[in-house]
Amino acid sequence: QTGLVTLDIGYKNTGATKSAITFLDGDLGILRYRGYSIEELAEKASFLEVAYLLIYGELPNKETFEKFKKDITLHTLVHEDMRKIFDGFPASAHPMGVLSSLVCSLTAFYPASLNPNRSPDAVNLTIIRLLAKMPTIAAWSYKNEMGHPLNYPNNALDYCANFLYMMFAYPTEKYEPDPVVVDALNKLLILHADHEQNCSTSTVRIVGSSQASLYSAVAAGINALWGPLHGGANQEVIEMLEMIQADGGNIQKYVDKAKDKNDTFRLMGFGHRVYKNFDPRARIIKVACDNILNKLGIHDPLLEIAKKLEEIALKDPYFVERKLYPNVDFYSGIIYKAIGIPTEMFTVMFALGRLPGWIAQWRELNMSREPIGRPRQIYIGEKERKYVPMENR
Ligand code: SDX
Repeated sequence: QTGLVTLDIGYKNTGATKSAITFLDGDLGILRYRGYSIEELAEKASFLEVAYLLIYGELPNKETFEKFKKDITLHTLVHEDMRKIFDGFPASAHPMGVLSSLVCSLTAFYPASLNPNRSPDAVNLTIIRLLAKMPTIAAWSYKNEMGHPLNYPNNALDYCANFLYMMFAYPTEKYEPDPVVVDALNKLLILHADHEQNCSTSTVRIVGSSQASLYSAVAAGINALWGPLHGGANQEVIEMLEMIQADGGNIQKYVDKAKDKNDTFRLMGFGHRVYKNFDPRARIIKVACDNILNKLGIHDPLLEIAKKLEEIALKDPYFVERKLYPNVDFYSGIIYKAIGIPTEMFTVMFALGRLPGWIAQWRELNMSREPIGRPRQIYIGEKERKYVPMENR
């Protein structure tokens, strides 16, 4: 084709959009949300504060933030009729499948305004509804799998504590969210909140570019995130570490397997399309691992295996030459495990964290009136040929 530049497929060097939300320098390992460093935000901010920052571009003052939080508490419940959809899922339904179905069904129950330029208040209500209902839907996807009664939101609790309450409270037992666990969750959700034009965010943007509702675009992003090469990696990391543990802790054997081109095995939680240095989120999570497990009095042998694996891989020429470092998923599962999140919920946690980023990116593309996404291709198929009747084939 004329006019097409032959690019490395998989959007490896494509600038798909212009965005003011997240800055990422893969060589220097820099990540900033609206100009604020991830290190500062993870240390000093709350997840909802960061959500506001990503979506509206500024850190909220006290009055604005109190109203934002209040609006969210008013919308944490979902329509009673959604329970019927929900009750229809078998206990074997994977929480990610339940989550994406229920998020998409929000379109049927709640008006979703599309144009932040024409009707900003209506779009803000759509955004509040999604931020408010996602933890409820996520926790219920877990309760469904456990066959437990659903916990309705307890709005006396803050965002993270309320989610933990809906996840772990049980009618016959008292449940109080542990502040150490709430703080750990707050930090993890902040670290996952946005990450420029990754696979699931690009999915949200391209679906949103067809004027699909925010709910539909986010449901599409949830499904893209589910893949083991993307958000599904955090669960795969734990399963990989457990496999190494079960195999006598023979780390070198798995490092060698990951290098073997005839073997499909990869070191999960290692490598990144953009970071050719340490993923700054992995650095923060690795430190948080030690702090949180110590505070909770937990010794997890998987953490020792992970640290040893990192040490061996980062001295191995195969990984060094390809600039393969631990990414956000390498240590996050160890914290999720320590705070009681089951592995099948790890990617749901990633979706919960990434939600403000998806919302911010969907809102940005609608505000900038981006055209519908329609990439081109390099055609490698047959040249023109004539139809052959069936009897002659
Ligand atoms: C996330 O894009 C984002 O921002 C994503 C994310 C976000 O916040 O949204 O950061 C979240 O998805 C993190 C990544 C989670 N996935 C994993 O940990 C799965 C394991 N990692 C790999 O599959 C891989 O590193 C990717 C998918 C993350 C990146 O793949 P790329 O950029 O397409 O790199 P590639 O597959 O072309 O690999 C380049 C080379 C290849 O070897 P050669 O052909 O050069 O010989 O590196 C090798 C690969 O075989 N390689 C690995 C490896 N990752 C890459 N070899 C062993 N183990 C690995 N993990």
